[in-house]
Amino acid sequence: MSETSPKLRAELEGIPTYKPGKPAAAGGPVAYKLSSNENPYPPLPGVMETVTAAASSFNRYPDMACTGLMNELAERFGVPVGHLATGTGSVGVAQQLIQATAGPGDEVIYAWRSFEAYPIITRISGATPVQVPLTDGEVHDLDAMAAAITDRTRLIFVCNPNNPTGTVVRREELERFLDRVPQDVLVVLDEAYREFIRDPEVPDGVEIYRNRPNVCVLRTFSKAYGLAGLRVGFAIAHEPVAAALRKTAVPFGVSQLAQEAAIASLRAEDALIGRVGSLVGERTRVVDALRAQGWTVPETQANFVWLRLGERTVDFAEACERAGVVVRPFAGEGVRVTVGEDEANDIFLKAAEAFRTQL
Ligand SMILES: Cc1ncc(COP(=O)(O)O)c(C=O)c1O
Repeated sequence: MSETSPKLRAELEGIPTYKPGKPAAAGGPVAYKLSSNENPYPPLPGVMETVTAAASSFNRYPDMACTGLMNELAERFGVPVGHLATGTGSVGVAQQLIQATAGPGDEVIYAWRSFEAYPIITRISGATPVQVPLTDGEVHDLDAMAAAITDRTRLIFVCNPNNPTGTVVRREELERFLDRVPQDVLVVLDEAYREFIRDPEVPDGVEIYRNRPNVCVLRTFSKAYGLAGLRVGFAIAHEPVAAALRKTAVPFGVSQLAQEAAIASLRAEDALIGRVGSLVGERTRVVDALRAQGWTVPETQANFVWLRLGERTVDFAEACERAGVVVRPFAGEGVRVTVGEDEANDIFLKAAEAFRTQL
């Protein structure tokens, strides 16, 4: 056999493969997965029945235009259907946005640390990532991000709330930042955790996009809506951007099951509000307990908390796992822990307390 392998694009060298949150060990001690910011609840009422019915026709391709879902979303958000685009999760839509805007020689700006897919999808496209460190308070440094804009900048992500820190940018600072961004640079407000926000000063990206043609809002059904496994996310953006997203989409990327489940989930909003409310209550309990134990916890508006543990990150994650909860370590930096079932949160808090007493 020849030693020569097919030529691959040089950009792929050194790009890490996306690392998913570790699953809970099967068959081990009670183990809860708090590593992927998933919703711990079963599907919303009516969703299982809808998906089961839709399953009878998966020998057929899905509706490529996602007509039913688009109409539902257009009505829900008060936007034209032409301003909507769907994709295989919001990460899929984020990748389409980069494909539509940036290639070799172009720059994509985002805060760091932030969602770990940003550097991967930027580099796959051949564009250059420009990472702007978070402030000491673990918040987007919007002044530094504005200062990082060059004539090569094509896209800027603002992750609000930020994954993995849970921190937010508020209305006034965001508007001030957007006023500084040139009109021909796309700003993507990644609002994957929007439903968990309780701070009234955090703007709804959908309101911001209305008067700003260079702003695109990213949302997902994976988190609050509990459809992570079905892969459906969407963008709201003005015509040229939304149209570009429809061009860069993988044909038939959103399955009929996902489309039907998303529609049924949107229609089960009362139950959704109740569940999100419970998780937000648990978030307060977890943050308060951690602070009472002596931890520094940045204010989180998402369904997870962030502990900057530095060199002790991996030890802490291992201690949590031994106790029965899997968390998400970023070696040398910190640990992100999803707010999950009450029992899982209890186990995590106990493990955090035990670790703290050993410091
Ligand atoms: C900030 C942020 N954006 C986007 C996503 C992508 O989610 P999905 O592709 O499941 O919609 C995630 C998932 O973790 C996220 O944290």
